[in-house]
Amino acid sequence: MTRNDDATRGFETRQIHSGADATHEQGSRITPIHQTAGYLFDSFDEGSDRFQGRSARLVYSRAGNPTNQVAERRLADLEGGIDAILTGSGQAAIFSALLGLAGAGDTIVATSSLYEGTKQLFRNSLTRQGLTFRFVPQDADDATWDAAIDDRTKAIYTETIPNPKIDVVDIPRIAGIAHRHGLPLVVDSTVSTPFLQRPLEHGADVVVHSTSKWLSGHGAVLGGAIIAGSAFDWSAHPERYPHLHAPFRASGETYVEKFGARAYPTFLRSVVVNDYGPTLSAQSAWLLLLGLETLSLRMERHIANTEAIVRWLAEQPNVRSIDHPSAPGNRYAEVAARLLPRGAGSVVSFDLAGGYESARRFIDSLELVSPMTHIGDVRSLAIHTGSTIHGRLTEEERLSIGITPGLIRLSVGLETVDDIIADLDRAIRVAHA
Ligand SMILES: Cc1ncc(COP(=O)(O)O)c(C=O)c1O
Repeated sequence: MTRNDDATRGFETRQIHSGADATHEQGSRITPIHQTAGYLFDSFDEGSDRFQGRSARLVYSRAGNPTNQVAERRLADLEGGIDAILTGSGQAAIFSALLGLAGAGDTIVATSSLYEGTKQLFRNSLTRQGLTFRFVPQDADDATWDAAIDDRTKAIYTETIPNPKIDVVDIPRIAGIAHRHGLPLVVDSTVSTPFLQRPLEHGADVVVHSTSKWLSGHGAVLGGAIIAGSAFDWSAHPERYPHLHAPFRASGETYVEKFGARAYPTFLRSVVVNDYGPTLSAQSAWLLLLGLETLSLRMERHIANTEAIVRWLAEQPNVRSIDHPSAPGNRYAEVAARLLPRGAGSVVSFDLAGGYESARRFIDSLELVSPMTHIGDVRSLAIHTGSTIHGRLTEEERLSIGITPGLIRLSVGLETVDDIIADLDRAIRVAHA
């Protein structure tokens, strides 16, 4: 069996070949979809070995599937991690990653600008499970960060490029704060993808993705992933992570003793994901693999289209402000240039003069750009987040996080950029007629 993991190869080669077995039983060149719930045991004893962790062979697709394993190895390679675990959605990746670190009575400290669905997950479902979340503005001074962290804190959580405000996070700085307190940094890198930024290289310890977005790329399939780095020393804090210092199955050795740097991802796969069951189907993993093969090409065009649209928006008299680091005078331009040299992603938000009513007419006038929630599709998508994603917040809460009545979030697709601009131009004209 020929494996194709070679870290000396370029990103474009690895997005196509990493993790794949070059030969399969029937000679299939593409990774097959292993559509099976479970796996035959060779014998009574061999089955027992698998259950007791004495054999790495698969038991049941809830915890592992050969198609998913190829996508997991590929994502781990592209992110520079040591292990990856797929989940059924980005939300499932986030809650699994955190439940692998924290339980009832524990605290997670997070940057305050996050995808609104993540905030709802934290405030509602995970709070009901007994976790506490404290939100700190990413640019708060060290003393404010230190005050939010206590001896029940189990992780710091942030995003690379939060939307809709595209307030790019200084990952090395937040990693420095986390590590000063002996905590891992968990980063949602959905909007950057490993083509634009690899957070593990900037000090993060765990990366989560909604693979529903650019990684799959075609708006056809949901998925999520957790990628673990190798740098965090899980053995250093037995009191903070007692579950990693408990025995792994019947072996008697603890997760930390048996798996070392892999203790956390092994616990995630064998306990959290196996118990809760947020598994990705093999068909969805296959669609993810297909999407990954063209990630770099798509990202280059997403970025080129976005920057052209930002330049055009900057000239429009009825656009009051633009949230994207490539916009003139944007306050995140420096951090984006440092951490996202290939571009700051393809989500851009802009505030229409005329507020709510202009936004309504704009959305209802779009012909090419699709009015819908979602990002990272080959199609351009637009949404008025204040009446949808942020619709549960009060007007005051919305304004406090920069969601003005005229704010439109655009996920720039791969259509001919002049056609996207023509659609935006017409809709803005109708909105202000
Ligand atoms: C940044 C970010 N993280 C996580 C998610 C959740 O992902 P999913 O929709 O795959 O559950 C989303 C969804 O929009 C997102 O934008």
